[in-house]
Amino acid sequence: MLDELKKFHDSHPNEIELKYPDHYDTKWVLDESEWPCFHLSALDNQPWKEMHKEAEALLDKFHSHREHSYGNGWKSLTLHGLNEDTQSLDGYGDREETLKKLDWTWVADHCPVTRKFLVETWPAEYLNRVRFMLLEPGGYILPHQDRPDEEKRLSVCNISLNNPEGCRFVFKNHGVVPFKDEGSAFLMDISNPHSVWNQSDTPRIHMIIHSELGRKVRDFFYIVRKSFYTNKERKINEGLE
Ligand SMILES: [Fe+2]
Repeated sequence: MLDELKKFHDSHPNEIELKYPDHYDTKWVLDESEWPCFHLSALDNQPWKEMHKEAEALLDKFHSHREHSYGNGWKSLTLHGLNEDTQSLDGYGDREETLKKLDWTWVADHCPVTRKFLVETWPAEYLNRVRFMLLEPGGYILPHQDRPDEEKRLSVCNISLNNPEGCRFVFKNHGVVPFKDEGSAFLMDISNPHSVWNQSDTPRIHMIIHSELGRKVRDFFYIVRKSFYTNKERKINEGLE
């Protein structure tokens, strides 16, 4: 198992570099670009460090996640869902009925800054499952894909509340996601095989948001558009384009 992990990570040593087209097109970015991830740089100045502190204070409350399949040292704590240990929403019977039962858990009461971000800033009308995801020092998530190949699109949001040096999230055939230790939000295409390995001595805490845009579709598109131009300009300034 560790051989497979090492081989996967060794064969993708570099950060992902995206080629930005001259003109912006929302549908192209989200559905057609085949980008494995997209930095929502318009959200770079959110209070990620305060949110990290809120999650870190609850480290002993996390529940093991997929410990007997492909995770090791991987744990989660649900802020919005059915309870503090909510699994994939498709595993509770009728999905529509399950969606109606979703609500804030006690975890959100302990994390006011995080909850405020999710209510006031995150551009979605409905939250589905929102979780803190912990990867302990030495922990790993073996290569897997969460969607079939034909469902290629940017969807779920993965936010690094920290990302210690030595902890790497790798997408097959693409490379390392450039998560920032100071906090960063990325849309992800999890139809690409991926794996994470925390080769540091610090717990890594991310937050995964599943949500539905509903009436906030314009707010979401605005953030994607602004991020596109910011990312492109940064690449030009760094001499990469
Ligand atoms: Fe995954």
